[in-house]
Amino acid sequence: MKWQIENKYRRLEDVGQEEIDGLISRVDRCPWRQTYHIQPISGLLNDPNGFSFYNGEYHLFYQWHPLGPIHGLKYWYHTKSKDLVNWDNVGIGLRPDTYFDSHGAYSGSSIEHNGKLHLFYTGNSRNEHLVRHPYQCIAVLDQHGEIKKLEQPVIDEVPKGYTEHFRDPKVWKDGEQFYAVIGAQRTNETGCSVLYSSPDLLEWNFEGEIKTQLDDFGYMWECPDYFEIDNHGIFIFSPQGIEPVGDYYQNIYQSGYVLGEKLDLVGKELKHGNFIELDRGFDFYAPQTMKDPKGRRLLVGWMGLPDIEYPTDPNGWSHCLTVPRELSIENNKLMQRPVPELQSLRKREIKVVDTVINETKTYDGFSGTAYELFCEFENVDAAEFGIEFRAGEVEKTVIKYDAVQRKVILDRSLSGKKVGEDYGTERKCEINAKKFKFHLFVDSSSVEIFVNDGGEVFTSRIFPNINSKEIRLFAKGGCTEFKAVKWDF
Ligand code: FRU
Repeated sequence: MKWQIENKYRRLEDVGQEEIDGLISRVDRCPWRQTYHIQPISGLLNDPNGFSFYNGEYHLFYQWHPLGPIHGLKYWYHTKSKDLVNWDNVGIGLRPDTYFDSHGAYSGSSIEHNGKLHLFYTGNSRNEHLVRHPYQCIAVLDQHGEIKKLEQPVIDEVPKGYTEHFRDPKVWKDGEQFYAVIGAQRTNETGCSVLYSSPDLLEWNFEGEIKTQLDDFGYMWECPDYFEIDNHGIFIFSPQGIEPVGDYYQNIYQSGYVLGEKLDLVGKELKHGNFIELDRGFDFYAPQTMKDPKGRRLLVGWMGLPDIEYPTDPNGWSHCLTVPRELSIENNKLMQRPVPELQSLRKREIKVVDTVINETKTYDGFSGTAYELFCEFENVDAAEFGIEFRAGEVEKTVIKYDAVQRKVILDRSLSGKKVGEDYGTERKCEINAKKFKFHLFVDSSSVEIFVNDGGEVFTSRIFPNINSKEIRLFAKGGCTEFKAVKWDF
């Protein structure tokens, strides 16, 4: 136990270069390294943090444990981009090197103020008995790229009625006032979120708990995020402890939103509809949004989940971030679309228009390990139709529509190396439509599938053999017409 704890909290600064070089060369030999997703140079990546646009560039940090694929001591790793597509690794953003963040610089957000980007994060500290105490801290990034922490936390206490599970501040500005939501656990071990306000990002006032209709909904709410689109209030959070119901809540932890009226900042009340999962795939958690200079609300998520082993672990790394998605509200529903900037990745284009009748077909050039594929199905009378991809002799990942169940189904039972099988190998989502559009972003070890213009998204890691490259179209129990376009990346 003692060894495990010491090992868990090992610091990058205390490890010799030889060990780091060895780890990185193990990572570099991994066949599942991604080609266009943000991934760690070594160790474990989790939540996106501090997503923002500052000084002419997008900044995106993430939770990082450098020394192996475990949830050890957490740093913020800093990446930046001019176009949301090509990301530069800047290096460590925050080190857990003060009394207040001694056991991890945990998740948080950022906002520009007085010409500087203010990073607002949770300092996770533990005392000699390993009792946790969270501090909410600020660090400031200036125009030269230098990051300096404030000496004292800006919130050093957990308000009465909440446990030490109190973290992940998400900050925004409304008029002249700053606000932040923080993920919390009540002392009766139910999850919620609380609201703070500040005139200057330094003095923070506890406004109280955000009143929702989800009083007893899991034991902890992580990574809350509040924003507005077209006069709607949207509150995203990642509740833990929700039991599966039918096709819902099938992953170990959830991540979703409620849509409603704008948050009443005085009454702290959010009037909202049902909790809706943001993603229907296997690996998606702790997303964060930002508003960019074009006025778009952009979202990035962690393409992974806590407490699950991944096949890249033996290679010394795990997880990546999703591609950025643009959010909009259409017919009272949150839509998610890949940002158009991703089109700059497109190289060779291949188009196929065909009808498949009780068969599975392959096409010239329809293969690969990193590409975008857009496929529209029409005039369907098949009982089942869809796409097999990253397919080989035995392996395949399948996205299909089952017209009998009226469900879109992602099946990764034959995707390659197993992952998270205890939580099932299929994800299903009921959709009633006549036309189906499947828009896939495939990388060496992942797929993001935007269904019907982003009404639903299935995000998943997959771990196939590098030779499993085929793309096949199929129909069973009838036929379907389809039009497909594929772009190599
Ligand atoms: C979510 C989370 C956050 C926390 C961070 C620690 O995945 O548990 O609540 O701040 O990860 O890495």
